[in-house]
Amino acid sequence: MQIYLDSCATTAPHPEVVKLVQEIMKDNWGNPSSLHFWGERSAMVLEKARFSVASLLNADSGDNIIFTSGGTEADNLAIFGTVYNYSQPQHIIISSVEHSAIASPVTMLEKQGWQVTRLPVNREGRVNPDDLRKSLRDNTVLVSIIYGQSEVGTIQPITELADITKTHSKALFHTDAVQIMGRYEVDVSALKIDLLSLSGHKFYGMQGAGALYIREGIELQPLIGGGGQELGLRSGTQALCAIAALGLASQLAQKDLESESLRLRELRDYFIDLVEQECPYLQLTGDRYYRLPHHASFIINHPHREITGRKMVRDLNLAGIGISAGSACSSGKSLPSPTLLAMGYSETEALRGIRISCDRTTTKEDLEWVVMVINQLMSR
Ligand SMILES: Cc1ncc(COP(=O)(O)O)c(C=O)c1O
Repeated sequence: MQIYLDSCATTAPHPEVVKLVQEIMKDNWGNPSSLHFWGERSAMVLEKARFSVASLLNADSGDNIIFTSGGTEADNLAIFGTVYNYSQPQHIIISSVEHSAIASPVTMLEKQGWQVTRLPVNREGRVNPDDLRKSLRDNTVLVSIIYGQSEVGTIQPITELADITKTHSKALFHTDAVQIMGRYEVDVSALKIDLLSLSGHKFYGMQGAGALYIREGIELQPLIGGGGQELGLRSGTQALCAIAALGLASQLAQKDLESESLRLRELRDYFIDLVEQECPYLQLTGDRYYRLPHHASFIINHPHREITGRKMVRDLNLAGIGISAGSACSSGKSLPSPTLLAMGYSETEALRGIRISCDRTTTKEDLEWVVMVINQLMSR
């Protein structure tokens, strides 16, 4: 028996996506920039996918969807594409629980003289909107706050944060929505968001395509020079299969959004309740209520044994169960999770995080089995 519970890392492509990608590889391999029949056919696939992503976001007709290689590139385009508009370093605000696709480029900019404010979070990983209000400066050019945190699942008060940014400053507001897309309604027309990143392989598309949403009228600078594809913002022949997969995944997500979001939330709450009742050594991390629908995360607090998240991942893998740990590894040495540290956990606790994330195939029985196996491992 194998149970995959790591959909925050990646999801298996939807069967309809697999079918579409096979068809495109076979019959639709033209370069979308070519002027002939083969190119035009591919350009139609590309534009259909763009329309589907825009529709999932409820974007306005003047807004732009720029295809990238995934969430990391979309995040980098949002950050560097904004800062390249300025000849002198200015001020950027991010949260202290960003994904490395935001945290790392911002650290690079800091080394080049940019001023950076990292907003603190509470024990549940949430930013306090008042802290954002107080941190805005005359020279703040970008605020970037993750929508749903990948490691601890916490959803940020994005409506309020975007509102504060746009009311009290001239800064652009970006959100990394990679984990929330397809699991929760994200309506860019109702939110004061300027830029938003998403990634196809996180919601049943395929690895290799993501997108940056750009509100009408916002100017970014390209990071890659070349043939001028994607309105000149992302040169290079588009990865048609992966983009078509993202488009179809967006259509499928939109069709079932409400029911699937509810199903996942019920499953998640069932699991968290079960863990609370039956696994005394697992302690929930992140916010109980403002939480990604498919996400549960814990730290391991065994009274007699030191069990790191990475050890638990390896042991569960031997039992045929795929989950992930919050901590990373560098040169063979485990590193504490920066997210858990920012939330006030100690260095040892920040090595003991685990994440269990459900997908469209997960059942209650899967989760009951996992609880049973975890308890067996704990009692060894
Ligand atoms: C919140 C968040 N942002 C960005 C990324 C990077 O996305 P990609 O793997 O498509 O580059 C991830 C991937 O885990 C993520 O969880």
